[in-house]
Amino acid sequence: MTALPEKMRAIVASPGTPLRVEQIDRAIAGPGQVLIKVAYAGINRPDLIQRMGAYPPPKGAPDTMGLECSGEIVAIGPDVSLWKLGDKVCALLPGGGYADYAWADEGSCMAIPDGLSMLEAAALPETVLTVWANVFERAALQPGEAFLVHGGASGIGTTAIQMAKAHGAKVFATAGGPEKAGLCAKLGADVAIDYRAQSFSEIIKADGGVDVVLDMVGGPYVQQNLDCLKMDGRCVQIAFLQGPQVELNLMAMMLKRLTLTGSTLRARPVAEKARLARAVEAHVWPWVTKGLVRPVVDSVFDLEEAEAAQAKMQANTHAGKIMLKVSD
Ligand SMILES: NC(=O)c1ccc[n+]([C@@H]2O[C@H](COP(=O)([O-])OP(=O)(O)OC[C@H]3O[C@@H](n4cnc5c(N)ncnc54)[C@H](OP(=O)(O)O)[C@@H]3O)[C@@H](O)[C@H]2O)c1
Repeated sequence: MTALPEKMRAIVASPGTPLRVEQIDRAIAGPGQVLIKVAYAGINRPDLIQRMGAYPPPKGAPDTMGLECSGEIVAIGPDVSLWKLGDKVCALLPGGGYADYAWADEGSCMAIPDGLSMLEAAALPETVLTVWANVFERAALQPGEAFLVHGGASGIGTTAIQMAKAHGAKVFATAGGPEKAGLCAKLGADVAIDYRAQSFSEIIKADGGVDVVLDMVGGPYVQQNLDCLKMDGRCVQIAFLQGPQVELNLMAMMLKRLTLTGSTLRARPVAEKARLARAVEAHVWPWVTKGLVRPVVDSVFDLEEAEAAQAKMQANTHAGKIMLKVSD
């Protein structure tokens, strides 16, 4: 293996200015960590929120952006037992994925599912772990139950539709516009709702309701979500794109024994992320290998084009994942 460079390219953000490429000290692997030569990195909406100063990296994380990548392990820190040099992995990162090299906690790395390219593998960690933690663990979606995901054409939404279908749920998805709703249907949603043309809550209530909602919109959706839920229903908030402050009539919560909950992935302890990663390898990777769950890649930008890649996400013209190509 060739010697590693002392410097690397990384995308640096300062509030109010475009993202730029800088040469910074190469990442190093500390205890329990591996160093990944990044092939591809995923863009996630939380990156945009971090850039606005509202989603700061957790203590000890790189202050450069990037929550997931694929690549090859090129160095190993002390006390690593799961991986060896040369292993190809995809990884959930605490930050720093928009760079030539990124360190990852060994437990946050996952084997690349059979048949997946490095590009596709890099598109999985953030969405799959988020959906697993919230839909399958927190909300405990069961086969045969009805599930609603908002933002069905988002990175998270396209993953949630496929995972819920693979699990045997009936899936409702909302999206803005006929094209995005069409994608949701193509991915397996039984009922794809263009929320600009139709009321999702009226359609779902007429169908008998849902057992689980995964919501990233918040605002006025929160009341409608509660209204759509069946007895013992669960609603999980993973973001509040239309705001976290709402006035609610909570009578339905009592009468239908509802659970309203939520979580973030990034703030979880390293050991908790490792537990989630092992669960995903055991339960979700077989679906990926069988072709039941596949990342939807909207577009691929070069690392230097990170500003344009994030602008595309901000403009909301994408469906699925926007990716950065870092190396071959
Ligand atoms: N809690 C966690 O652990 C966690 C982890 C990862 C991501 N997230 C959150 O999950 C969401 C999806 O992430 P992603 O990376 O998949 O993002 P994404 O691909 O950009 O998707 C966001 C979706 O939200 C909808 N949207 C955008 N702005 C909106 C607004 N102002 N009001 C209502 N809807 C809006 C858009 O769908 P339409 O065009 O169909 O409206 C878009 O497809 C983000 O909010 C992100 O912060 C949370």
